[in-house]
Amino acid sequence: DWTSDIFIDSSIAALKAKIGKDKVVMGLSGGVDSSVAATLIHRAIGDQLTCVFVDNGLLRKNEFEEVLDSYKHMGLNVIGVDSKKRFYDALAGLTDPEEKRKAIGRAFIEVFDEEAHKIEGVKWLGQGTIYPDVIESVSVKGPSATIKSHHNVGGLPDFMKLSVVEPLNTLFKDEVREVGRALEIVEKIIGRHPFPGPGLGIRILGDVTEEKVKTLQEVDHIFIQGLKNHGLYDKVWQAGAILLPIQSVGVMGDERTYERVVALRAVGSVDGMTADWIHLPYEFLGKMSNEIINRVKGVNRVVYDISSKPPATIEWE
Ligand code: XMP
Repeated sequence: DWTSDIFIDSSIAALKAKIGKDKVVMGLSGGVDSSVAATLIHRAIGDQLTCVFVDNGLLRKNEFEEVLDSYKHMGLNVIGVDSKKRFYDALAGLTDPEEKRKAIGRAFIEVFDEEAHKIEGVKWLGQGTIYPDVIESVSVKGPSATIKSHHNVGGLPDFMKLSVVEPLNTLFKDEVREVGRALEIVEKIIGRHPFPGPGLGIRILGDVTEEKVKTLQEVDHIFIQGLKNHGLYDKVWQAGAILLPIQSVGVMGDERTYERVVALRAVGSVDGMTADWIHLPYEFLGKMSNEIINRVKGVNRVVYDISSKPPATIEWE
């Protein structure tokens, strides 16, 4: 019978045997999988593991600081890299979703490669791959696809020549969460909704600018906090806000406004392959709409996405 304690003990022993005195580098995303994998590796080899957490400027509001803080509290040896400008530059003028994904993927690879080069003699690349990633490694939109398309262009970056260590590659998501809880990782990380690697970059339809990111971060923050405050966050598999590339007419006082429209999306799912839109209470949606329009400058209309997957994907890009 599988238990998280047995899994933890045996995988720590296996990691120690495999890695020995070598150094490992690993990228953290703030998500469940990479956090649990890093914690497990850290239990096995301590500070022979260096973690890299990149601020790509496309994270949720305050996410970088808060998650970096959690990682430090967990004792992980983590380097936070502020690369916002690099990602915004790479995205400037791009509107096609796949082009945007590629630009984000490339920028990440460059930043990560630079950081990996600073670790002398590093031998291993830690990864948070879980079993469903292994069986569905031919995803069209996933980060691995981005990395693959990069290969064809410029050849392998050095860190990708490292040997890979993937302690979670036999586990399903719920088992990863169980292991994470047994490792006493904070609930803020364990219970977190999935969040795409390209982040808000694919929730700002069309071209991405710093100003649009700021606007969307405010909207998203109100929505996610609202879900938490109303006890709805854990009933939803994934949620977020989308900044639409259109403006709509509104009225404020005696003035006509012509401002942005945002969409809210909340879905239920098991694995992201199919998803149903969640029937959030009308009162809650009304409250969110008011708060967003009153508090976020430049937004005068809120809509709720009532499409399921298929045929609509979870992300709009
Ligand atoms: P879709 O939009 O395809 O999303 O229904 C299914 C799940 O995958 C996430 N997603 C991504 N994750 N890089 C990622 O790391 C991506 O490019 C990407 N695109 C979508 C999405 O958030 C959802 O959980």
